[in-house]
Amino acid sequence: MKVRYVAQIGGSEVLAYVHMAWGALMRDGLWSKTEMLINGAEECCYATVGRDTVIACIVYRTDESKQAVIAIAYVSPKHRAKGVYRKLHAEFEARAKSKGAVVVINICYPTNLGIQETCKKLGYQLHSVEYRKKLQ
Ligand SMILES: CC(C)(COP(=O)(O)OP(=O)(O)OC[C@H]1O[C@@H](n2cnc3c(N)ncnc32)[C@H](O)[C@@H]1OP(=O)(O)O)[C@@H](O)C(=O)NCCC(=O)NCCS
Repeated sequence: MKVRYVAQIGGSEVLAYVHMAWGALMRDGLWSKTEMLINGAEECCYATVGRDTVIACIVYRTDESKQAVIAIAYVSPKHRAKGVYRKLHAEFEARAKSKGAVVVINICYPTNLGIQETCKKLGYQLHSVEYRKKLQ
C-alpha cells in the first residue's frame, strides 16, 4: 500500500474515488443526504494498491484557526479492519501538523458508530453534541 497526498482534490486522480465514497456514505445512512461538505479545494491523503487503485481517502481542510477538519474519511469495504485508516491517519496528522494545525476534527453522524469507535482508538476525545431543529 502507498500513501499519497494532493493539495487540492479538484482535478486530481483521487476525485472520482471521493465522489464514489460520498455516494456510499449517503446510501449507507452514514452522512446527511443534503449536506455536501466538499467543494474541490480540499487537501487529501489517500492510499493506493497495485496499479494506482485508490482504496481509501481522508479529505480535509486546514483553516486559520489551526484546525484540520475532516470532510470525508473512507476505506473501501474489502480493505477495512487491516490498519489502512490508522496508517493513512498518521500521514494526515503529520501533514496537518506541518501546516500549523494544533487539533484535528472529525465530525461524525450519530448513527455512525464505526467511525466513532475508530476515532477513540486513534486518540480523539468527544468534544460536543450538536442539536438541530428543522424550520422547514
Ligand atoms: C471507519 C473506517 C474509516 C475505519 O477504517 P479501517 O481501515 O477499517 O480502520 P483500521 O483498520 O485502521 O482501524 C483503526 C482502529 O479502529 C478500530 N476500528 C475500525 N473500525 C471499527 C469499527 N467499525 N468498530 C470498532 N472499532 C473499529 C480498529 O479496531 C483499530 O483499532 P486498533 O488498531 O487499536 O485495533 C472504515 O470502516 C470506513 O471507511 N467506514 C465507512 C465510511 C465512514 O463511516 N467514514 C466516516 C465518515 S465521517
